Amino acid sequence: MVMAEGSEGARPADADRAPAGTGQRAAGGLGGSAPLLALRGIGKSFGPVQALADINLDIPAGQVTALAGDNGAGKSTLIKCIAGIYQPSGGQLLWNGQPVHIHTPKDATQLGIATVYQDLALCDNLDIVQNMMLGHESVKYGILDEISMELLAKQTLRDLAVSTVRSIRQPVGSLSGGQRQAVAVAKAVMQEARLVIMDEPTAALGVSQTELVLSLITTLAERGHAVLVVSHNLTDVFRVASRIAVLYLGRLAASGPATGFDTQSVVDFMTTGTSSRLGEHRKSALSGGFTSGTEGWTDGN
Ligand SMILES: Nc1ncnc2c1ncn2[C@@H]1O[C@H](COP(=O)(O)OP(=O)(O)O)[C@@H](O)[C@H]1O
Ligand SMILES: [Mg+2]
Repeated sequence: MVMAEGSEGARPADADRAPAGTGQRAAGGLGGSAPLLALRGIGKSFGPVQALADINLDIPAGQVTALAGDNGAGKSTLIKCIAGIYQPSGGQLLWNGQPVHIHTPKDATQLGIATVYQDLALCDNLDIVQNMMLGHESVKYGILDEISMELLAKQTLRDLAVSTVRSIRQPVGSLSGGQRQAVAVAKAVMQEARLVIMDEPTAALGVSQTELVLSLITTLAERGHAVLVVSHNLTDVFRVASRIAVLYLGRLAASGPATGFDTQSVVDFMTTGTSSRLGEHRKSALSGGFTSGTEGWTDGN
């Protein structure tokens, strides 16, 4: 290991711990507080298969963290460990600096973690409001309070600057891929998610839909949410991410501010677990808390 123990916990002084429970919905953690979520030594085995080993990663509020890695690197397993679908075999999760155990997806939701999966889990036959409120419907005098639900859904979409939807009463099945992503994200936001995890959000989208989703991701971070985006698409990664983490064969090959990487170094880390291409980026990477978990990364070579 070349750099100090691959732990982002060794970041400089601005990483002060915020008191537990800080920040209401969308209240920013922009001011140098503790990472909203910190992974410490997370490992996950499936029988003899070690899918993840010793993952140390900070996911701060108000920033987009991109999680890159080749197929089979462990990206989905990692987000499932955060989302309460898998239990890590080892290590610890810290939420606002406090150790937490996330046993079920419901535990994750209650903490404020929402995951937008690739298949999106929306109901095509229901309209936008119904989808956004599903399982959280408002009831007044024993009947569904359609007016307040509609207002809430409208307001949430407006806050996220989603303006391409014609009517919030149209069935979700009639929306474009980008609009469906927007509805899934708006649903997460409405349920007060403080960390929004997105798995390959632009993988199935065309150019203009991708633009919509990327600007939505940026808006989420600007509004103080922590965003963790799994992506293969390095153009998207560099457009939206302020931090990048690269998994290689279940290990964190590198993580740090996006300014510490260029496309080629991310590709190197993704495909070989190491990169000799730090060049001009190296200095800013080091001062920004960049860490590399690899043996092969040596001074100046
Ligand atoms: N439920 C499971 N049982 C056994 N092995 C699994 C399971 N889920 C994932 N794996 C293995 O863990 C590794 C990482 O998989 P995954 O997290 O899906 O990678 P990625 O999302 O980066 O493509 C792979 O080798 C995969 O075969
Ligand atoms: Mg996957």
